[in-house]
Amino acid sequence: MSDSALPLLEVNNLTVKFGDFTAVDDVSFQLNAGETLAIVGESGSGKTVTALSLMRLVELSSRGRITSGEILLNPPNEIPMDLADLPEDKLRKIRGELISMIFQEPLTALNPVFSVQSQLVEAIRSHRDISKASAIEMALDMMRKVRIPDPEQRLKRFPHELSGGMRQRVMIAQALALNPQILIADEPTTALDVTIQAQILGLIKDLQEQTGSAVIMITHDMGVVAQVADRVVVMRQSKVVEQGPVEQIFDDPQHPYTKALLAAVPRLGSMADKDAPEKFPLVEQDA
Ligand SMILES: Nc1ncnc2c1ncn2[C@@H]1O[C@H](COP(=O)(O)OP(=O)(O)OP(=O)(O)O)[C@@H](O)[C@H]1O
Ligand SMILES: [Mg+2]
Repeated sequence: MSDSALPLLEVNNLTVKFGDFTAVDDVSFQLNAGETLAIVGESGSGKTVTALSLMRLVELSSRGRITSGEILLNPPNEIPMDLADLPEDKLRKIRGELISMIFQEPLTALNPVFSVQSQLVEAIRSHRDISKASAIEMALDMMRKVRIPDPEQRLKRFPHELSGGMRQRVMIAQALALNPQILIADEPTTALDVTIQAQILGLIKDLQEQTGSAVIMITHDMGVVAQVADRVVVMRQSKVVEQGPVEQIFDDPQHPYTKALLAAVPRLGSMADKDAPEKFPLVEQDA
């Protein structure tokens, strides 16, 4: 935990447009050091665009425009900065190093023509002035941390030669290689089966506990929210309709949309044990 009183990240009145269409409309939220914030909402509500804006990738990769708002990053022992207003050369240093992202679609995030090793090594060496051999050691170490079996062999593979779950682990390895203060995980488990999903969420949580990173977990699955989140931001049609501590969102939802989302989850904690009497078994276990 940071000893600073300022939140690690403060998003104020962020608005993002594609042409005339407003994909993110006046969105504000905060992220404290070490905590997990879930962003939930239906398909098309603006979750990914919000995440890509925090990384300032929305302009680069998809021709969006941040038309107003602030993205204030307050790293401990560093000068606070507004990411919405930072030039590209400074942003390159911040991406990966301070904020990194596990993308919704691993195959688009990993380059098919390069081996896992060359991508991890490149990601590390673009930020750290170290030899190739040391970078390979770091990459191997990350592969072990994300529990990829036989990491020496898998490091030499190309992304399409790995299973979906393995690719997801490689992305997590890449995202965490430089010990970022903030990890954004955009639906990191949607494409995976339930067992692998639970493993990946557990892995992110373990790594977060080891490194103290804050996590922004994007999902439309309230079961995932119950399992990992400290606080929740609910988005609908480009806007934040409600936000608060996870207990408050589940116990006393205010907005009809939040109520509808929760009504679709038969019972909180159903992921652990559908007969469990406690309301937040997984959250409390980890508290
Ligand atoms: N590059 C783009 N050009 C134009 N519109 C876009 C672009 N990217 C996203 N949008 C639009 O912005 C809105 C928000 O999209 P976003 O990807 O953030 O949704 P999401 O909440 O992540 O949905 P999902 O749960 O399906 O991933 C959608 O209406 C989408 O069509
Ligand atoms: Mg999305």
